[in-house]
Amino acid sequence: MIVGVGCGSRDNAERAYGPAVAADAGLHPVRIHAPASLTGLRGSVRDPNGQPTEVPCATCHAGRTFPLPSSPAELGGPHAGMRFRHGTNVCASCHDPASAERLRLADGRVIPVSDAMALCSQCHGPQARDYAHGAHGGMSGHWDLRRGGRVRNHCVDCHDPHDPAFPSFVPMPPPLDAPRRAPAGRGQTGAH
Ligand code: HEC
Ligand code: HEC
Ligand code: HEC
Ligand code: HEC
Repeated sequence: MIVGVGCGSRDNAERAYGPAVAADAGLHPVRIHAPASLTGLRGSVRDPNGQPTEVPCATCHAGRTFPLPSSPAELGGPHAGMRFRHGTNVCASCHDPASAERLRLADGRVIPVSDAMALCSQCHGPQARDYAHGAHGGMSGHWDLRRGGRVRNHCVDCHDPHDPAFPSFVPMPPPLDAPRRAPAGRGQTGAH
């Protein structure tokens, strides 16, 4: 009988979705990916391995405050040219005017930029709820947490907070070297 180990099993559903995970000893953790854009800017220099370098926000912002601009066009420095298209929001809907390293929730509480998901969730309840039960945002790793851990994507992995519309996909043309008379034509061109 398969009944009892399938997705319909109540026990299994609780294990897969629930916050019960942390309390449930022996299960592997569910981690939320931490995008680099929350803690630094990509520098123009590459490291010796050819990987782009990150400049932490604190390098420029620790102990220094700049006035929060009233429009993206006023924003200069390394952030010049930022695109902004996010409903009727203004900069202060999300940023703490007193510190570039903090975000501000609607109730006035300030949180570190790395906790941005709490910010998104306060205005996008339906998506936050869908995310919490796994229907929005995707994941990778193990479905069965007894076998291994799982990594969830962060909201800003997929949505730029300043221009959050998910980019539409452009269909790719078929490869130029695709065999036109498959399978008879395969291997007859000689060129590779
Ligand atoms: C290389 C230096 C540098 C780095 C790294 C940097 N910033 Fe800035 N940032 C600036 C400067 C300079 C300004 C002021 C721009 C202006 O005058 O318009 C600024 C302005 C801002 C502002 C608007 C003004 C304010 O103080 O609120 C925000 C918000 C901000 N930065 C957030 C960040 C965040 C978040 C990071 C990391 C993800 C970051 N910055 C990384 C240099 C930097
Ligand atoms: C909906 C919330 C939201 C609004 C509105 C918003 N920001 Fe941000 N901002 C964020 C988050 C979250 C980050 C964290 C970094 C990331 O993932 O881009 C960020 C990062 C930044 C950074 C760091 C560099 C970067 O591009 O990530 C700057 C500068 C910045 N914001 C300026 C502004 C300015 C200026 C405005 C108003 C025109 C504004 N923001 C409006 C949420 C917001
Ligand atoms: C202060 C409230 C507020 C916050 C915080 C906020 N949003 Fe939004 N968001 C809005 C509004 C308003 C709209 C526009 C809705 C509309 O036009 O119907 C919107 C639209 C969107 C859209 C749809 C964009 C489109 O054009 O299809 C996405 C995706 C989105 N937000 C993601 C995010 C993410 C990710 C965060 C966190 C970084 C966030 N939002 C934070 C208020 C907010
Ligand atoms: C794996 C990528 C991914 C992640 C992570 C993700 N989303 Fe989305 N989101 C999408 C896609 C794809 C759409 C649909 C875009 C479309 O239909 O054009 C979407 C749509 C949305 C919309 C617009 C819905 C509408 O009806 O217009 C909002 C708001 C939103 N997401 C908020 C969030 C929030 C908040 C989080 C974090 C809790 C999040 N998303 C995490 C991929 C993602």
